[in-house]
Amino acid sequence: AASSMWGGRFAVGPAAIMSRINASIDFDKRLYAQDIRGSQAHCRMLVRQKILTEADGDAIVQGLEQVRQEIESGQFRFSHELEDIHMNVEARLAELIGEAAGRLHTARSRNDQVATDFRLWVRDAIDGMDGALKGLQQALITRAEEHAATVMPGFTHLQAAQPVTFGHHMLAYVEMIGRDRGRLADARVRLNECPLGSAALAGTSFPIDRHFTAAQLDFAAPMNNSLDGVSDRDFALEFMAACSICAVHLSRLAEELVIWTSAQFRFVTLSDAFTTGSSIMPQKRNPDAAELIRAKTGRVIGDLNALLIVMKGLPLAYSKDMQDDKEPVFEVADTMELSIAAMTGMIGDMKVNTLILKAAAGAGFTTATDIADWCVRELKMPFRRAHHVAGSLVKLAESKGCDIDQLSLDEMQSVEPGITEQARAVLAVDHSVASRVSFGGTAPLRVREQVAAARAKWLEG
Ligand code: ARG
Repeated sequence: AASSMWGGRFAVGPAAIMSRINASIDFDKRLYAQDIRGSQAHCRMLVRQKILTEADGDAIVQGLEQVRQEIESGQFRFSHELEDIHMNVEARLAELIGEAAGRLHTARSRNDQVATDFRLWVRDAIDGMDGALKGLQQALITRAEEHAATVMPGFTHLQAAQPVTFGHHMLAYVEMIGRDRGRLADARVRLNECPLGSAALAGTSFPIDRHFTAAQLDFAAPMNNSLDGVSDRDFALEFMAACSICAVHLSRLAEELVIWTSAQFRFVTLSDAFTTGSSIMPQKRNPDAAELIRAKTGRVIGDLNALLIVMKGLPLAYSKDMQDDKEPVFEVADTMELSIAAMTGMIGDMKVNTLILKAAAGAGFTTATDIADWCVRELKMPFRRAHHVAGSLVKLAESKGCDIDQLSLDEMQSVEPGITEQARAVLAVDHSVASRVSFGGTAPLRVREQVAAARAKWLEG
């Protein structure tokens, strides 16, 4: 309340705005389950160490259980005056069990409390995301198997390059998503140490057992240094960095879907379920979900940057700046969840237009490399010269307005007399992809092997 002497002029205004800038409850209420779990572990440890009586400990653990139920049933009244989730939960606990509630915060600070809660939250987010990415890999692998032998143009510079198989293209993303899962798993290992017991910054004089609380919360170990425990948010940065890279992968696939669904490509068709119409152009079927995945990548990268910039100037230990770590992380987690689910849906939904893909696969002289390879193999030509021969055939075909395989044998032999009828066979796109049997290559045979290997590696166990 305002001082009666100057309150009219000062206290109410600043107090209100102070509360608005300071309160984090509107967003950090999402930490409630982790906060309660952390408090229960801390309480059990205090009892075990005889810092708290069993009676108080039981009252606290059960009271926290009731708070959890109130929050989950929507009865809980969150208060801005109580700033954050930690104070909201503790204040309600005091209403429920009285004075014993005030003993919970023994040997603890909100600084180690929030660091613990947030690690638990990010750990859960990583686990959820891993499951979602596995689902996306499953969808990609299913389409890869279906289309192990479906020929399509492969591009470099978005110029037709060489024929590849659609399955091979799907599996490229399975690999990328696999590395994303690996990055998240690596981040999880480094994240999985417990800051609880760091207290405000220096540790505590109470005989706490940090190994016990760490184990209760499924952390591998307590963090070694109490200053570090309350000061760093590298685990959140690492999570967002891994998500940013993953989002870039999703964005590239989204971009391909946008291109592939266009009337000029028509490589794939999305159903009504994953497209929208236009209010003016009746023919439109817009790939909005793909466009939005592409767009939201900007937010994910932006959120990573936002927290990097928050952290870069902070002296040890805790500064309130670090309260601003949560919204970026929540937005990244929510955005990733949505984008991965939408992408998984589209991959399952898309109709792959195999005839159009096949026709496109041969357009743009994409098998010119195959005729060059033939000259190397059959005529023992150095590759550089063979490249020149194939280039001349392309030039000749271009001048006649036809494909290389439509040149007559005489015309081909005018470029290179060694060319025989047999050389024509290698110009077929199916022949081209079937010949690419090198490890990791695009041949249907290899794609089917890769499908089995990817299943075993990413989906089983
Ligand atoms: N809401 C705060 C945060 O998220 C909790 C820690 C507050 N600590 C403090 N010393 N004010 O960072």
